[in-house]
Amino acid sequence: MHRINTQTLALRKAVLDYSVTRMDYDPVPLDRPEPNEKLAELVGETMTDAGIGWDKALDLFRDVLAPATISADHPNFLSFIPAAPTEAASLFDLVVSASSIYGGSWKEGAGAIFAENQVLEFLARECGLAEGAGGVFVQGGTLGNLSALVTARQWAKAQGKLAPWAIICSAEAHSSLAAAARVMDVEIIIAEPVASGKFNAAAADNAIAKARDAGLTPFALVGTAGTTNFGIVDRLDELAATARKEALWFHVDGAYGLAGVLSTEHKGLYRGIEKCDSFIVDPHKWLFAPFDACALVYRKPEYAKQAHTQQADYLDAVHATGDWNPSDYAFNLTRRARGLPLWFSLATYGVEIYRQAVSRSIYLARQIADVIEERDYLELLRPPELSVVVFERKGWDAAQYEQWSEALLDSQFAFVVPSSHQGRPNTRFAIVNPRTEFSDLVKILDSMA
Ligand SMILES: Cc1ncc(COP(=O)(O)O)c(C=O)c1O
Repeated sequence: MHRINTQTLALRKAVLDYSVTRMDYDPVPLDRPEPNEKLAELVGETMTDAGIGWDKALDLFRDVLAPATISADHPNFLSFIPAAPTEAASLFDLVVSASSIYGGSWKEGAGAIFAENQVLEFLARECGLAEGAGGVFVQGGTLGNLSALVTARQWAKAQGKLAPWAIICSAEAHSSLAAAARVMDVEIIIAEPVASGKFNAAAADNAIAKARDAGLTPFALVGTAGTTNFGIVDRLDELAATARKEALWFHVDGAYGLAGVLSTEHKGLYRGIEKCDSFIVDPHKWLFAPFDACALVYRKPEYAKQAHTQQADYLDAVHATGDWNPSDYAFNLTRRARGLPLWFSLATYGVEIYRQAVSRSIYLARQIADVIEERDYLELLRPPELSVVVFERKGWDAAQYEQWSEALLDSQFAFVVPSSHQGRPNTRFAIVNPRTEFSDLVKILDSMA
């Protein structure tokens, strides 16, 4: 029988014990970044010929590196878009790591891919897409948006359309769209902001006309289901109709906010999503899965396959059977089966608890927005639609927000960074963690008095 030496057994135990201890914290330590020089001094050189040994490396991680790494799952991590993985999802991420799964092709990863596909089909159903929809889990929303837009251009080419290409989106769309346009070497036409903040048909029509007047060929219209700044869901129904009228690919970036479609009470906000050609939603944002994963779903995946399949002699075996190969549906080849933690968690707890958890974030956002409105030193910038609350501390300049934010982190109570809108400094709460307490949010507001 294969004998495992005692060092390896001790290593296994130590790493698993560390992981379990990390999960036992309630709450987890918030922690904070340290300057590079300080870390260099504390850690020293770890890349040596002989290695420093697992025990020393683990000590360094536990005592120096982890405390210099903010915990995005702390209940009062309210900046950017936090993460709040379930216990089942985090634990299953360990299983994925321990299992050496190649998630790129059916030939190698069939079982894992089958489970991932069940999750993608579930998400497609929740959004009202017909059977046949499918896609792939990629690393994040940025890569999901890029892959969808590359597919959209492929589809436009197949319609006989020609460069120079343009993507149409709103001013509130995520920065990853402009990044995708740069990579694709296409133009991006930003629609004029709409007073309601919701990108709608009139704004899209103007932007499409502007693109055509400039001699460009619009090929994709992008709506956002939950903008990063304010959590606004665009008029997806109107955008879907415009896309159809103008023969454009309709992509919905729901990296953060599309998870809200699970909330039975708030589903109506997403009317029109069922007509999209593709959508993304990030499980690591508001679907309680660990970093990093983006579900990318196409109404008709065959266009993605035309756009993304890599051809080479050494891949013949993978393509020979005609099976579903996730690597054919995005800009990727080798891939981690990063949808499995979400699959395990959904299978473990059931969908209903997800609906409740997402709804709770939305209610909590509305509850704290009411408190903000009651306080005379604060100004709510707009009523929250999902779980992002943006507000100003009247009279503060950017430096005062910065000082306050630093002090909050110094006290290890909360991580809330300054932000801005139209040149005015503000701050925001992005609430996705079911452990975030109303009373703590109130304490944060108290700290601004
Ligand atoms: C609406 C939206 N789209 C795309 C992204 C990019 O996603 P990722 O950070 O996973 O690449 C984000 C990130 O916050 C987002 O909020």
